[in-house]
Amino acid sequence: MSQPGQQFIVYIGTGAIALFTVLRDPPAPTLPDPASLERQRQQILHQGRTESYQDIINPITDPILLVRNARVAAANPAAAKVLGDHILGEDVRIAIRHPAAADRLANPDAKHTGAPILLVGVGSADQRWELRIHALQDGLKLVQLSDRSSHYAAEKMRTDFVANASHELRTPLAAIKGFLETLEDPKAGKDDATRTRFLKIMYDEADRMQRLIEDLMSLSRIEAEKFELPSEKINLRDLVEEARDFYINSRGKKEKEIQVAFPADIPLIYGDRAQLAQVVNNLLSNAFKYGKKGTPVRINVAPNRTATMLKLSISDEGDGIAPEHIPRLSERFYRVDKGRSKSIGGTGLGLAIVKHISERHGGRMEIASEVGKGTTVSVLLPVVNNAPSPRESGNTTS
Ligand SMILES: Nc1ncnc2c1ncn2[C@@H]1O[C@H](COP(=O)(O)OP(=O)(O)OP(=O)(O)O)[C@@H](O)[C@H]1O
Ligand SMILES: [Mg+2]
Repeated sequence: MSQPGQQFIVYIGTGAIALFTVLRDPPAPTLPDPASLERQRQQILHQGRTESYQDIINPITDPILLVRNARVAAANPAAAKVLGDHILGEDVRIAIRHPAAADRLANPDAKHTGAPILLVGVGSADQRWELRIHALQDGLKLVQLSDRSSHYAAEKMRTDFVANASHELRTPLAAIKGFLETLEDPKAGKDDATRTRFLKIMYDEADRMQRLIEDLMSLSRIEAEKFELPSEKINLRDLVEEARDFYINSRGKKEKEIQVAFPADIPLIYGDRAQLAQVVNNLLSNAFKYGKKGTPVRINVAPNRTATMLKLSISDEGDGIAPEHIPRLSERFYRVDKGRSKSIGGTGLGLAIVKHISERHGGRMEIASEVGKGTTVSVLLPVVNNAPSPRESGNTTS
């Protein structure tokens, strides 16, 4: 008598050997029989109204699954792309490896309100999905995945921004408090030289905080207005000359340190005067901060090749910027050399502000730099007869 699980070796014809295993008991539940699984799969695929749904879900760009009896009864191409081609007929808990989603999908009594479940690590590691389950007829469940990666990336940028801003504000505040405590000490407070030195540091730190707060306010104002096209007609020459005079009269720069070139006939642009002055100032401030001492800063204004945009370029002869940093310079608080920028008073908001202002004007910012030679940052702004027409205010500064 053969025993359950006993194996027989049978010779068929000349030399061919077949191996049989006698299975008289039903298979253990932990080892499902592939044939019965296939039967179950086929049953699910052809049961009910799954096929008629297939035509509907196929063109949808979000991944969609239809689930019956906790198995994937249908999947659109978008779902197969994200979860794999093998998911059809698979246990949904294996197809979507997520405990909360699996629990709701496999539970026949679960109530599906369409509330989203956040999935992380499906597709690629940094993708974020929202999974929604909708109950259809005949016990069929429709599972919809929506790619929310860009929403979560924006959310992260916002939280990083708050964390960075708080950190940048806390540092000068901590310094001010530290020096105040020292000055409270009667010995240090009565020494004139110490007092003067500490007070100067406290003023500098307070200035730093003030600049940071003003920059943060600028950024939020520009963001709030980003869909409002500026309507004032501006001659960039006036703005550049004002900025040059400021650096010469109030910042002790020599005439030869700021070299300016304009075309004879400068086209007007639609702009926000205060914001464009901020662009010129932020770029000049960088050129002086990061340029080599004693070398000139050049300001050049010229129309582009097609005369549709006016290009304002500010160049320095500094250390330059390595190419890998250039795409990140317009991120808020990004500094190439954090320590160095900080020691010369930089918080990493200047170029973010320039980029936002350029975009609000329908233009763009470009950075060209060569390590060891210097940097040119340009802003391209549409000239009046090429700009998207804003409401005319009639103000002209030319
Ligand atoms: N002309 C330049 N030459 C070399 N590096 C530059 C130049 N302009 C900007 N950078 C680099 O880009 C970083 C970002 O510049 P950005 O103007 O945004 O910030 P910042 O100058 O550090 O601070 P802030 O302008 O807010 O006072 C700087 O920290 C610096 O590392
Ligand atoms: Mg700067």
